[in-house]
Amino acid sequence: MQLVTDLEHWRQVRAEVGGSVGFVPTMGALHEGHLSLLRRSVAENETTVLSIFVNATQFNNNADLENYPTSIEEDLKLAQSVGVDLVLMPDYSQMYPDDFRFQMREDIFSRDLCGSDRPGHFTGVLTVVLKLLNLVQPEKAYFGLKDYQQYLLIKDMCAGLFLPIQIVGCETLRESDGLAMSSRNRRLDPTARSLAARFNQILYQATSDQEAIAELKSLGCGVAYIKTQYGRRFGAIEIASQGDSVRLIDNLVPKTLPAEGAAAESFVSGMSR
Ligand code: PAF
Repeated sequence: MQLVTDLEHWRQVRAEVGGSVGFVPTMGALHEGHLSLLRRSVAENETTVLSIFVNATQFNNNADLENYPTSIEEDLKLAQSVGVDLVLMPDYSQMYPDDFRFQMREDIFSRDLCGSDRPGHFTGVLTVVLKLLNLVQPEKAYFGLKDYQQYLLIKDMCAGLFLPIQIVGCETLRESDGLAMSSRNRRLDPTARSLAARFNQILYQATSDQEAIAELKSLGCGVAYIKTQYGRRFGAIEIASQGDSVRLIDNLVPKTLPAEGAAAESFVSGMSR
């Protein structure tokens, strides 16, 4: 496995790679969910590229950026253990030589769900993913469906900009109590961790979004949104932990689909689906 931190060097390395390339972009703090994407890429491609880059432009809260977990040495060991060939790990000045003057913005779906209380979040995500896809030039790029909205926006961006890349959505991996795996779970203290397990259960069992919101609030969670649409229930909550607040998101098909959730079958334009 080769680690590349300099983009000039990266261009030379990439030019020498032949055959199919699979790509898994991450912000590090790798967990089993990431490893499942990497294993799939290794199985389906001749070369697998992992990127590790904590993308400051997608954080609209400084504390969240500062507290984002990092574990580079451990990440590299894990990447090697699942057969990653190349790791791209640039810094901010390399990824943003324009200092974010040029941005990739989507104006409809990015304002819904996580975009409703994190203005600019998806502009940061789409901009960095577009840059990374340009650098890596993969045939396939793999994204977890825990970030369903992100997955759909990236899929539509590639279709809208004619990028010849297949965006592959991979099922959410869960802990034994159903909590969706996330790098942010590392920031949960034991009390917050047991509360976090209630999130997916309530999303699944509640007979309406209002019921889910009331139940989560009664447990002491902050609720950013709970919304059932397109056949899935989406949610984002804040849980207090170690004097701080940790944001968790999830989505699933609820036990009983409220009438308003069943109607539409595609998200924004349906153009890539
Ligand atoms: O899902 C993530 O970890 C990030 O949003 C991504 C896709 C790596 C972009 O920074």
